[in-house]
Amino acid sequence: MSKYHIATVQSVHHWTDTLFSFTCSREPGLRFNNGEFTMVGLEVDGRPLARAYSIVSPNYEEHLEFFSIKVQDGPLTSRLQHLRVGDHILIGKKPTGTLVADNLLPGKTLWMLSTGTGLAPFMSIIRDPDIYDRFERIVLTHTCRLKGELAYMDYIKHDLPGHEYLGDVIKEKFVYYPTVTREEFENEGRITDLIATGKLFIDLGVKRFAPESDRVMLCGSTAMLRDTTELLKQAGLVEGKNNAPGHYVIERAFVE
Ligand code: A2P
Repeated sequence: MSKYHIATVQSVHHWTDTLFSFTCSREPGLRFNNGEFTMVGLEVDGRPLARAYSIVSPNYEEHLEFFSIKVQDGPLTSRLQHLRVGDHILIGKKPTGTLVADNLLPGKTLWMLSTGTGLAPFMSIIRDPDIYDRFERIVLTHTCRLKGELAYMDYIKHDLPGHEYLGDVIKEKFVYYPTVTREEFENEGRITDLIATGKLFIDLGVKRFAPESDRVMLCGSTAMLRDTTELLKQAGLVEGKNNAPGHYVIERAFVE
């Protein structure tokens, strides 16, 4: 039996020359936890060519949404970036991943720290009703080189607080902190520097990370994960895995 469903592309949105998102149909049988990834691909020369993609859309939506970079000579994204409405795409039948709330011990504040397309799994989680039951405060940071790369910023700032079911709890508990590293913006700098200097905590009016209260999910480049993990360890936080919950969990933002 094939490992893939065939889905139909429903919309495509290009954020920049290097970033785009698309939505597609969802098989009714495809189940996943918010924050998980699945394989996404195309048939090339009669064979599936697929890569792991975090699912942007929450698991109660009828469609699936994904957020991707465009790499001009990347085997998959050089093709995927030309997707059009009505095209067929392969979707892996077995979503999985570590960025799920069950891998974290109970806590007060959930931090989701992302760079680039590492934002994707957190778009799903911030629309998960369960996460607002588990935590008193939910903070999402997104760091990119340029303002234009802060995909979904308009949606997060302006549409999310009006969410049909979650709007009120989002207004009460959710904080969004976008930062940019290579041009002027309301918040500037790498998340690692903002943690190390304490500026992140001062800006948000909260205490620094502590194992008693703070839980962290990380999704970004290998370098960002390495450097941020080091800071979390210094704060006394311990990594969680499937079946062994901890204070933080990490997932690589999948790139070619
Ligand atoms: P910078 O502009 O200072 O390199 P990329 O597109 O290379 O994946 O980077 C996405 C964002 O992640 C950029 O804002 C970049 O900052 C930042 N970044 C890159 N490396 C690290 C790291 N080791 N720790 C934290 N942030 C990083």
